[in-house]
Amino acid sequence: MDDPYFPLLQEVIAKAYAPYSRFPVAAVARGVSGTHYSGVNVENAAYPQGWCAEASALSAMVSAGETELTEIAVMATGDAICTPCGGCRQKIREFGTSSTRVLCYGPEGLRATYTLEELLPHSFGPDHLK
Ligand code: THU
Repeated sequence: MDDPYFPLLQEVIAKAYAPYSRFPVAAVARGVSGTHYSGVNVENAAYPQGWCAEASALSAMVSAGETELTEIAVMATGDAICTPCGGCRQKIREFGTSSTRVLCYGPEGLRATYTLEELLPHSFGPDHLK
């Protein structure tokens, strides 16, 4: 099956700026239009000022005028499946729905797929403020 994420993730992860953790991460967000928005983690010498790849990809999506997320793919190295951190799950929640898919890749390919509901059950979201 054709996988648009894998080649994009491979290309983008090479641009990750992770000199401190040496843990490069790439993310590709798919907006409802079908457009893909990529991003990487961007670390900082003042460690807490760094941010995750998912935040970069979502920022690119919103900057392009899209606020509806259908899928997000994440690639990292290491043996463990790299699922989005807690903060990123909440960021994904802002633009996704319970059925938004989160695809987790390693350098060799897809490792696992989750729904946002699986990763962030009973979530707080924009509807709470209505
Ligand atoms: N990181 C991400 O970019 N996304 C994740 O899903 C997990 C962690 C980054 C943050 C930091 O730059 C490095 O990975 C190590 O935590």
